[in-house]
Amino acid sequence: MRQNTDLENLAAQPIAAADELAGTFEIQPHNALASEEEHTRIFANLGFGSDFTDYMAHATWTAGKGWHNKVVEPYGPLTLDPAGAVLHYGQETFEGMKAYRHDDGSIWTFRPTYNAARINMSNRRLAIPEITREDFVASIVDLVRADARWVPSAPGTSLYLRPFVFASESFLGVRAASRYEYLVIASPSGAYFKNGLQPIDLWVDRIYHRAGPGGMGDVKTGGNYASSLLPKVRAAEAGFDEVLFLDAATNTNLDELGGMNIFVVMADGSVKTPALTGNILPGGTRSSIIQLLEANDTDVAEEAIPLQFVLDGLESGDVAEMFACGTAAVVTPIGRLASEDFDVAVPVGDKTAAIYDELTAIQLGHAEDRFGWLYKIADAS
Ligand code: COI
Repeated sequence: MRQNTDLENLAAQPIAAADELAGTFEIQPHNALASEEEHTRIFANLGFGSDFTDYMAHATWTAGKGWHNKVVEPYGPLTLDPAGAVLHYGQETFEGMKAYRHDDGSIWTFRPTYNAARINMSNRRLAIPEITREDFVASIVDLVRADARWVPSAPGTSLYLRPFVFASESFLGVRAASRYEYLVIASPSGAYFKNGLQPIDLWVDRIYHRAGPGGMGDVKTGGNYASSLLPKVRAAEAGFDEVLFLDAATNTNLDELGGMNIFVVMADGSVKTPALTGNILPGGTRSSIIQLLEANDTDVAEEAIPLQFVLDGLESGDVAEMFACGTAAVVTPIGRLASEDFDVAVPVGDKTAAIYDELTAIQLGHAEDRFGWLYKIADAS
């Protein structure tokens, strides 16, 4: 039997209901809400991460006061001194979450205590003050309640939530800052990839790594994503959707895609995913998929997966499917793996689709929430 990770154990601790947390972030007046025409225009063509809601949650941390000024305020540009520490040394962490509209009009989110635990794991690594899990979940509740009209209901859509923290002290010395901002912004979204659930083509990069031993690869900080961008540009120029990174220690084992974890489905029905070595982000979607598969009596191995094992398995037929997963990307089939010396098709099969269906059915309230993952933010209004 698999042992829960520390994050999974923290996430499983009970948290107060939304009505008890509501009001922690005090709503500020807004005199320029988006018009109904603007709302309709945005909802008619939902992509990923390019349109934003009326409000944002915001709090500030200073040494004397801790986290204070907790508000939900009009969405808009921030004022930041050019010497703001985040602009120079990247002291920043973030999360990705979603709010879903159920058929009865109520609004829910998925495992918010997992994200609360993970942002604090990231904060500890980046020497950023922690946020209480109650404040973290309250910021989601208060923002989403204020922005309720931005939670879409069409199939495959959701309100994508982006909590983040950054060092806002104006100071050029290299040390942990003495002032931070915590914000949550929200973006009504459709599929992460513009071709929806079409299989994606991966370039396996043997030159660059996103993170190395002792680095920050297991936490959610902008630097890990910044290091993935040049490889991604080069891969896109060659016609690939994403980059698959190998481990920095041996350059032989699968790590992750930068913004997504990876799974390999074997022909015997068992499933493998790279072990959490400290270089891989412990994805909430990864964790949920492992638990769903195990509950369905599927063998899941979290272990080192050599690239050569995958290439041999694709040739012999032992590897049946591969998919990527993450909050934004949900479950996305992989259709091709290539690098300087190979270019192979990956079969697309039923298991990936079944996992997508099972996970999204829970998120949308269409299947029993066996693990208690759903958190109700608001009733239908
Ligand atoms: C998410 O899946 O929510 C992330 O934060 C990753 C990013 C690729 C959008």
